[in-house]
Amino acid sequence: MKFGRRLPKQPFTSLQSPVMESDIRDPDLAESGAVRMEWDARQMPVLHSIKDRFARERPFRDLRVAVCLHISTKTANLVTAIKSGGAEPVVCASNPLSTQDDVAASLAVHHGVPVFAKRGEDPDTFNRHLHNVLESNPDILLDDGADLVTTAHRDHRRQLDRIIGGTEETTTGVNRLRSMVRNGDLTIPVIAVNDSKTKHLFDNRFGTGQSALDGILRATNTLIAGKTVVVCGYGWCGRGVASRVRGLGGQVIVTEVDSIPALEAAMEGFRVLPIDEAAALGDLFITVTGNRGVIRRDHLEVMKDGAMLANAGHFDVEIDVQALDALAIEKRSLRPNVEEYALANGRRLHLLGEGRLVNLVAGEGHPAAVMDLSFANQALAVEHLVARHEDMPPGLYTLPDEVDREIAGLKLESMGLAIDALTPEQQDYLDSWR
Ligand SMILES: NC(=O)c1ccc[n+]([C@@H]2O[C@H](COP(=O)([O-])OP(=O)(O)OC[C@H]3O[C@@H](n4cnc5c(N)ncnc54)[C@H](O)[C@@H]3O)[C@@H](O)[C@H]2O)c1
Repeated sequence: MKFGRRLPKQPFTSLQSPVMESDIRDPDLAESGAVRMEWDARQMPVLHSIKDRFARERPFRDLRVAVCLHISTKTANLVTAIKSGGAEPVVCASNPLSTQDDVAASLAVHHGVPVFAKRGEDPDTFNRHLHNVLESNPDILLDDGADLVTTAHRDHRRQLDRIIGGTEETTTGVNRLRSMVRNGDLTIPVIAVNDSKTKHLFDNRFGTGQSALDGILRATNTLIAGKTVVVCGYGWCGRGVASRVRGLGGQVIVTEVDSIPALEAAMEGFRVLPIDEAAALGDLFITVTGNRGVIRRDHLEVMKDGAMLANAGHFDVEIDVQALDALAIEKRSLRPNVEEYALANGRRLHLLGEGRLVNLVAGEGHPAAVMDLSFANQALAVEHLVARHEDMPPGLYTLPDEVDREIAGLKLESMGLAIDALTPEQQDYLDSWR
């Protein structure tokens, strides 16, 4: 049985509407964006090799790919890889505060990619940009947080008939899509890139582990050594954050709602406490749960003077910023990305990056070397969709295991590392129950 829209045999063109003008901050920033993209491209050898193959094989000829990701140097390298494969990408931001305006400018000016993203855009502009991208008649949706897929299902249902599928970058997006599947609402196939081992085992853990701390340090220049750091959520990101805090000499307290990761954290040597108890102890709080209301009014009220609050989960709902606003008698900006809230009880709390993804708001996001793996997955997921979408009924998919291993193998090779191969005897031994 075949599903979805069948793409015509080559040559075909699906570009049925003219691409609109970009909406970016300043095209004159393009040079700076180009140089920074070049720097990061050097750390992305796996994506680079895929890009070279795409340029030869042109698997996406004349397909329009809507891209909703953090507009960073790494994303720009993914976008140019997809473009090398013959696609026409159209780009918007997955977060209003993570856009790097010089990268947006370079994509638009040097690569002719329509970009709808300005750092600090207000919620209306952010939403309008999502609609701009969907109105370009995309064939494929490339998402980070499922905003494109959910907006298409809510407001652009006619477009859905022509969309062959999508890909999803992050845990929160995959959670939203799982909910759509449970409710019978998802009408296209989506590949959960986050669920590839070469994505979450590396990007979420080592990427978020390093970049969340990087963002916090850039914002505050605080000393982690000797501080009590409360890490809320011990999933893939939480494991990375907790281990990096420990590496810098911080004392980690983990809060969890699931007994298994909580036990794992305890056996890893971290103190495990309910947030109600941890709230009064922390000097620094880092939320990475993908959930909402993790730090609430009750917790804010008992925090120490000078406590800092940062979020590295996808949405800005993990720390209850409204409660913080309500408790504050005065608020002022102390440094870029550091807001001081003076409470009636005389204590001062410091919110970093407005409670949005601290690694992207106060830093540059993950290092390119780890995004090499995530975006190799994205690039191959788009290729997989184009080749296989007719055999993919609506639902959530993961990339085949061999793709994961191919990406890991290419990364090892680029690092100059080799591994052993099974001997025939070893293979027989493993295959035999005797
Ligand atoms: N900052 C980044 O660049 C970045 C990168 C990857 C993922 N993310 C985002 O980070 C979040 C976490 O991702 P993950 O891959 O670690 O997810 P995960 O599912 O592996 O882990 C989340 C953990 O949080 C726990 N949790 C849920 N509610 C909680 C609560 N109220 N208190 C304490 N713990 C709670 C869960 O039990 C789980 O163990 C998601 O929103 C994801 O999209 C951010």
